Amino acid sequence: MGAGGKKMKPLLRQKNYRNICAYKIESNMDYQDIVNDIYREVQAYFGQGKVASYIPALARVRPDQLGISVETINGRSALAGQADTRFSIQSISKAFTLAMAFALEGDNLWRRVGVEPSGNPFNSLVQLEFESGKPRNPFINAGALVVTDVLCSRYADPKGEILRFIRQLSGTDTIDFDEEVAQSEKEHGFRNQALAWFLKSCNNIHSDVDTVLDVYFHQCSIAMNCREMSRAFLFLANHGVLPATGEQLLTHSQAKRLNAILLTCGFYDQAGEFAFRVGMPGKSGVGGGVAAIIPGELAVAVWSPEVNEQGNSVVGIQALEWFTTRSGRSIF
Ligand code: DON
Repeated sequence: MGAGGKKMKPLLRQKNYRNICAYKIESNMDYQDIVNDIYREVQAYFGQGKVASYIPALARVRPDQLGISVETINGRSALAGQADTRFSIQSISKAFTLAMAFALEGDNLWRRVGVEPSGNPFNSLVQLEFESGKPRNPFINAGALVVTDVLCSRYADPKGEILRFIRQLSGTDTIDFDEEVAQSEKEHGFRNQALAWFLKSCNNIHSDVDTVLDVYFHQCSIAMNCREMSRAFLFLANHGVLPATGEQLLTHSQAKRLNAILLTCGFYDQAGEFAFRVGMPGKSGVGGGVAAIIPGELAVAVWSPEVNEQGNSVVGIQALEWFTTRSGRSIF
């Protein structure tokens, strides 16, 4: 009997259970079958979003592309589609720069940037003035600019250090900036310039504003593929330790905190919906990439260039929703 005395249908015959029961759920599971099915079925969602065009160099990307990569901390992987095609990582870079700045500054970082969801678009200006130049969180653009400023203060060559860190995480030396994308954003990044100058007026940018913007535009322009991206997020699934080398890049507690911010702020004004539908800490970029993790288990990267109004990949989020539903894995 169910609540209220109604007779319940056996779970396996309930409609919503269909997605789960088709796969065997076990901790050592092989994700390839699930990924193959998702790759085939989720293509029905092409055409629902639009390739970002406010950075002209991004607008040229072919829309109907999809790559998926899953990698577990004990070395298993599953791939589908264009998992080896590089894309512009854009705001996913904010997760990497935050890890670097947090490792350098520790909890002092939170004096300059908050840890609350903003409920506002990623490039919003209004909240920043109301809150006297302290950005709500490190993933909206205002917060990411403060994080990049920390790296500019700490390093003689912040662009080189960011690249070095991402190459180390992914184990790939060929990852690089896309100068055309960086230049294109520099020429059209008026809102970021406004945010940076406003932050400067509030004493929350310490370095030269043009230098901070140049580094920020370059970190966003980095090109990676899904295979490299899932590998690069694995240290967050592994409590701060890079599985390939055993290096501790963040403390256990710092990794926990970074994952908490990914969950609550990684998708801007769609963060609640992403947690509700997918149930993983993750980060999106307006190039159509999404990376997400399950602590102690795995990292997933999905790329499909059409994004919604919040700047998040439509097909990517759907693919991840099916991934957690069908695998029976999530943080909840
Ligand atoms: O700052 C910008 O507008 C871009 N470089 C990055 C924005 C972005 O990726 C938003 N996320 N989905």
